[in-house]
Amino acid sequence: MRVILLGTAAGGGFPQWNCACELCARCHRGELPARSQECAAVSGNGRDWWLLNASPDIRTQLLATPALAPGPGPRDTPVRGVLLTDAEVDHALGLTILRGGAGLTVHAAPPVLGALTADLPLRGLLDRYAPWEWRSGTGFELAGGLTVTAHPVGTKAPKYVGDPDPDAPWVSAYRVEDPATGGALVYAPCLAAWPDGFDDLLDSASCALLDGTFFSADELGSAVRSGSAGQSLMGHVPVTGPGGSLTALARHPGLRRVYTHLNNTNPLLDPSSSASAAVRGAGAEVLADGSELVL
Ligand code: MLT
Ligand code: MN
Ligand code: ZN
Repeated sequence: MRVILLGTAAGGGFPQWNCACELCARCHRGELPARSQECAAVSGNGRDWWLLNASPDIRTQLLATPALAPGPGPRDTPVRGVLLTDAEVDHALGLTILRGGAGLTVHAAPPVLGALTADLPLRGLLDRYAPWEWRSGTGFELAGGLTVTAHPVGTKAPKYVGDPDPDAPWVSAYRVEDPATGGALVYAPCLAAWPDGFDDLLDSASCALLDGTFFSADELGSAVRSGSAGQSLMGHVPVTGPGGSLTALARHPGLRRVYTHLNNTNPLLDPSSSASAAVRGAGAEVLADGSELVL
């Protein structure tokens, strides 16, 4: 199985268009690599590719990735569909860029499909360009030889949903396995907290691509002095500190552990930061956009 990290930044990307924090300013000056909004692609055979989320940057991401180039026929594409972990704008809006793509299938949990029908009504809109399949299921096969299971990992609804069911499974993780190699990816870019049973899921994988939005619990307030919305409200467990994901990941030393969905305030955007050294020292990784994993 090939896994390509198309984008590794949280919503807004890095740098974020309206942010002049120190990290974004350094990125503008060319001192730190820019990152597009979080999205990945997986394939079991190198010919049929599935997107993990569809970021608003998907057009640029597809054009930058030779494996996802169109062909051989004039309107052929190796993109078969999208697996959504949630209905957040930075994960779903890329569907509009794919409009008209023939025969795509979108997999998402029922509340996510509901939101894309009623609150951010892309589903009806997109079906008028080309009819797509919209599926919810906890276990399914993907063209190209991959086996998927979906796992509810959180109940945080997108901000744009007016009156969300607070107990609904708004956020999923996916386990994607290539039975031919035994390699398995756990893809969980949105984790409000370490979910029950998540250690068992990681034990069944060879690689995890995980929520690295915030390095520390007070980062958002201190970087942009917003003071209001802390990370717990934002629905992302921090990397470091008590209850952070790095401590939990230490229980899985044999697992390849990669952080993604980095917010523009995150010191992990700077490879020379002490935060980056701490993550590397703990055996976890931060990779550049375009990186490929083979599992
Ligand atoms: C998130 O990751 O929590 C969301 O993408 C926030 C947002 O809407 O920007
Ligand atoms: Mn996001
Ligand atoms: Zn910034």
